[in-house]
Formats: sequence, C-alpha cells, structure tokens
Amino acid sequence: MAAFQPLVFSGVQPTGNLHLGNYLGAIRRWVALQADYPCLFCVVDLHAITVWQEPADLERQIREVTAAFIASGIDASKHILFNQSRVPEHAELAWIFNCIARLGWMNRMTQFKDKAGKDRENASLGLLAYPSLMAADILAYRATLVPVGEDQKQHLELTRDIAAKFNHDFSERIEAKGLGHPIAMGDETVQGFFPLTDPLIEGPATRVMSLKDGSKKMSKSDPSDLSRINLTDDADTIARKIRKAKTDPDALPSEAAGLAGRPEADNLVGIYAALADRPKTDILAEFGGRPFSEFKPALANLAVEKLSPIADEMRRILDDPAEIDRTLRDGADRARAIASRTLADVKSIVGLLNG
Ligand code: TYM
Repeated sequence: MAAFQPLVFSGVQPTGNLHLGNYLGAIRRWVALQADYPCLFCVVDLHAITVWQEPADLERQIREVTAAFIASGIDASKHILFNQSRVPEHAELAWIFNCIARLGWMNRMTQFKDKAGKDRENASLGLLAYPSLMAADILAYRATLVPVGEDQKQHLELTRDIAAKFNHDFSERIEAKGLGHPIAMGDETVQGFFPLTDPLIEGPATRVMSLKDGSKKMSKSDPSDLSRINLTDDADTIARKIRKAKTDPDALPSEAAGLAGRPEADNLVGIYAALADRPKTDILAEFGGRPFSEFKPALANLAVEKLSPIADEMRRILDDPAEIDRTLRDGADRARAIASRTLADVKSIVGLLNG
C-alpha cells in the first residue's frame, strides 16, 4: 500500500479565554498550514471535562473557541472544523487505546502531575487517560502532522508510542488484512496501520511565557489576568498589560546571545517576532540598545494591530450562535465519515466482531 497521506490535526480545549500563547503557538500556525495540507481542527470538549466545567460556561466556551478559529482565518468550508464530542469514534478509539497504553506511561505525564497536583487520588480517571483520548483524536484520521506548542510534546510522544505498540501487537492481522502502510523506522521499513505522527513545534512562539514571570508559561489557569493577553482583550487592556509586563532594567541586546538569562526580555522579543512574522535576530537588530520604555509601546501597537481585528470578527461571529452550531455539525459529519472507517478497520484488526 502507499505511504500515509499527509494530514494535519490539532485541537484546543474550550476551558476559558484563549490567549496569545494559544494563538501564536497553535492557531496562527494552523492558518498557514491550510494552504499545503488537508486539515482537521477540533474543539476538544471531552478533554475539557477531565476537570470540572460549569455546563453553561462550557457551551459558551465551545462557541467562543470556534469563533476564535474562524476569526483567526480557519476556513471551515475547505477544511474540517468540529467539536470532539459530536464524533463518538474519538471516545470509542480512546477506549481501545486505554487497553494498549500502559499505566506507567500515563503516570509519567508531566501535565497529569501538574494538573492533579498533590491530591492525585482525587483527580478524575479521565485526567489520567487524557493522552489516550488525544492519541485517538489524531489517529482516528491517521493524521501525520500535529502543530502544537512545546507543552504538548510529551503527549505527542505518547501518541507515537500507542501507534507503535498497536502496529506491533497486531502486525500479523494488519498484514493479513492488507491494511498496512509503509513506515520508515531508521534504515528499515515496517508496515503499520497507524502512522508515527510528527509533532510540528516550530517558530519563535512555541512557548509563550507569562507576562508576570518569565519562568512560567502563559496559561488560561493563571489566577492573574495580567499574566496573559486574551484574544478578546481590547486595545487599552492589551497596552496596559504590556506596559505592566515584568522586564529587567537593561536595554535590549542587539544579538540573540544577549537574551541568555533574561527570560522576560526573551519572551517579549519572541512575541514581537511571532506577531511581526520576522526572525528574532531581525527584531534585535532593530531594537538593540533601546530601553523597554521604547520597545513596549512598539510591541503594544503591533499586538493591537494584529489582535483587534480578530476580536472584532469574533464578536461578529458570536452574534449568530446558530450559524456556529451549523458549522460544527457540518464539520462533525465530515469528520465522522473518516473516523468511522478507521474505527471499523481497527475493530476488525483487534477481533471485535462488527459487521
Ligand atoms: P490547550 O487547549 O492547552 O492549548 C491549545 C494549543 O495552544 C498551545 N499553547 C501554547 N503555545 C505556546 N505558548 C503557550 N504559553 C501555550 N499555551 C498553550 C498548546 O501547545 C496547544 O497547541 N491537549 C491539548 C489539546 C488537544 C490536542 C489534541 C492537540 C487535544 N487533542 C490532538 C493536538 C492534537 C491541549 O490541552 O491544548
């Protein structure tokens, strides 16, 4: 059989305000990938409920994230945009993967440890199984490319481990049924039903840090709203947050080496570079030697210029929730047509009578 077709899959949880990290680390890069690959973009609502969500907030946030995708430039007519729970094959495949993945693999996940905190006994079972559902999201479509921020790297390694173990455990069935595709493993080529997905973690903003602490990533769950720029912030709020962002007393360096040991400066330069779509070295060549009192207003202007049109468009889209729901339903129908074929093959490989 031929090699796997290149296909992009990625997702965002509808758990709160989308911020600049989500935008620069993920969504904006998805927009660019649409020109080169067929893409699926997913609002991962089943992942969201691994921790408590107020039902009414969850409904609103699913629509908000969908609006943010569309406002950022995701084309739901050319590609597939949907919410996860509308395609039951994700949860079904995740169950099968729960039986492939080992408990030890899950216990090593740093996001589980962070989210479960000290009271691990009280974390939901879903939170532990979270990466297995993520593997199902990706592999239900046998997606080969997954653009994400740095914090998802370990989850994507686990996705590869699950795919590799499935391919290995069922290799004879996969071959007998003629369902394998070639996968290059070093010098060897093996046959597999699932691809070993490549993470796409690239660019100057794969890990956008908190505006208040350059050692912590920008996050929806940070109690301080000043730590992040939300996609829905207005121009004054964006400017105020950048003005109040933590920095050090020195001027900006003119070369990248000068950012070593200066996490806050590094972060702001990275944000500027990503928003301007220019390399960091370029930004340093322009601003090197100048104080933050000059750099911050330039950054605020750029952020407002790039983000306000998205916020305006989001508001416009959110005025018509029925249209958002139609888009999600249509995307789910198209996603399901692919995922249900994968699942039928998986069942026949595993030996689950289904016909
Ligand atoms: P989530 O919802 O936490 O984040 C969505 C995307 O935003 C990226 N991101 C960041 N990038 C740079 N800097 C930051 N500070 C920052 N914070 C978040 C994340 O890396 C992610 O790409 N488990 C995933 C959702 C998911 C998924 C999937 C992703 C579920 N199934 C399948 C890809 C493929 C998550 O919680 O993302």
